[in-house]
Amino acid sequence: MGFQEAFRDIVLKPLREDEEIKQEVTQYLIAYQQSRTEFSSFDHYIRRKILGYARTPCETQALALLYSYTYMPMHLDGNKKVIEREYQTFFKPYIYQKPANVWMIDVGCGPMTACLALADFQHSLPAKKRLDLDYLGCDIHSFMTDIALSFHRKKNQNDLFGEHFRGRYPDIKNPSWWEQVDGPVKAGGALVFYFSYFWEQGGVTEEVGKWVDCVKRLSLQARAENTFLVYLNRDLGDSSSAYTEFKQRLRERPNTLEVISSEKCNHKYQSWSGLEEWMTQGILPQARPKKKTDLQYEILRVEWKHYEDAGTDTNTPL
Ligand SMILES: C[S@@+](CC[C@H](N)C(=O)[O-])C[C@H]1O[C@@H](n2cnc3c(N)ncnc32)[C@H](O)[C@@H]1O
Repeated sequence: MGFQEAFRDIVLKPLREDEEIKQEVTQYLIAYQQSRTEFSSFDHYIRRKILGYARTPCETQALALLYSYTYMPMHLDGNKKVIEREYQTFFKPYIYQKPANVWMIDVGCGPMTACLALADFQHSLPAKKRLDLDYLGCDIHSFMTDIALSFHRKKNQNDLFGEHFRGRYPDIKNPSWWEQVDGPVKAGGALVFYFSYFWEQGGVTEEVGKWVDCVKRLSLQARAENTFLVYLNRDLGDSSSAYTEFKQRLRERPNTLEVISSEKCNHKYQSWSGLEEWMTQGILPQARPKKKTDLQYEILRVEWKHYEDAGTDTNTPL
């Protein structure tokens, strides 16, 4: 089963078939129909008014699914672009060397977008060159990690990486969640902190210290031969952005973070239209012609040994 079929089963079907979800989406549809002239379509209404261009917290199952319908295909393509361009940069040393593995910590994982992009890329490689991957999907909204889990469990999606894939989705609302994850980086392996379209989210400015501590704690725990940070988004944000502050606070010494790659480019992305017809008539949404959008990404190497004598950012012991 490919991604499109899994997307239909996991994201589209529940919008029509689950009564509670359908009820919430129908309320949005009625509100849209009453203000139709302001929006070019129900898809547009959802994107702008309901999802606030991907900034609305997805605190219901319906919102998490609408986010996945609207933004997951676009972000999947952004991640594919970065992975296609940079896979060799930071994964190459590990792909032949089993049992060396990669521990990927996907912060604000949403419906597992980045991991699915990596899985898609890996399918183009011969089996013996695929990563041995321990994946940790972290999201503040459990409705998002529920969708991630559905992709993980989907028959034949489960062989995302064949037998070399282990996924976990901790409850990060528990303040000591990181104590419950052991750092499973084997000799010669890599630890990757992955931030895909995360740092522009409302509320993360207050959480910079929490993620700085997470990087310090988990990288010290893993003691991996190589520890990387991956960032991608439409842009890097300005000098006062949460991501800029995050990097400043991680830089224990001038060379704690080494820039391996920093690129500004664009990518084509897939999107869908026809949510109104899907909800009212059961006609599947249609793929729109692909559009281009901006993309900026960075890959940094983290010298975690610099954290050995450092304190935390939130004044709790490391
Ligand atoms: C724009 S989405 C990106 C999702 C996914 N990484 C992608 O590329 O499609 C941002 C995600 O961050 C999550 N999020 C927002 N604030 C968060 C926080 N403080 N901690 C963890 N996750 C958070 C949201 O629930 C959402 O799933």
